[in-house]
Amino acid sequence: MAIKYSELVIEHFKNPHNVGTIDKADASATEGSPACGDQLTVYLKVNPETQVIEDIKFQSYGCASNIATASIITDLALGKTLEKAKAISWKQAADELGGLPPVKMHCSVLAVDALRSAIKDWEHKHLGTQIEQNITKKNLVKELQKVIYGKVGVDIVSLKLLKYIGIDEKKNVLIELAVSKDDPFIEDLKNEINERMEKFPDVASVKISLV
Ligand code: FES
Repeated sequence: MAIKYSELVIEHFKNPHNVGTIDKADASATEGSPACGDQLTVYLKVNPETQVIEDIKFQSYGCASNIATASIITDLALGKTLEKAKAISWKQAADELGGLPPVKMHCSVLAVDALRSAIKDWEHKHLGTQIEQNITKKNLVKELQKVIYGKVGVDIVSLKLLKYIGIDEKKNVLIELAVSKDDPFIEDLKNEINERMEKFPDVASVKISLV
């Protein structure tokens, strides 16, 4: 069955705003989507006094939804302070576009992820903040909030599909999901969770069980 897109998605895909790179950008970041393997790079020019985003550009190696969401989030971020830009969510980006099909929500997550990473890159370079990769429950759950259940287009934490997450003293991670073993999305979910956990180099192993 063909995927249906809103008119705004098609419009932003055909005529995306803020495409390109910034010469001597103050910060940039490339993120990949574990769900599909596509990539997006965001470039920033930021006023160091006011921390307002004065220029923002993106290059997408992703699909139509990714190009459309990158176009809209860069529009939303332009002229905002970093603090305000950080608060732009993938849900908001999808809503601004008149919605995205559930199986395409992860494309919006990729766009927001790249924007937030570019902001972190700026903070790291200009304020010396550390890029946090500590294995804490909070940080792991934050990462799992980016895993979209493709059937409904919502993340597994909001859907309460994440029943338990634990870390033992040897840094093995145990994740329990309330998803049936016959669910057609289960393999995608497991692969994405495993890939997202790779962001934490100290994690020894990841075990996912279904409850
Ligand atoms: Fe990969 Fe959309 S399918 S970003």
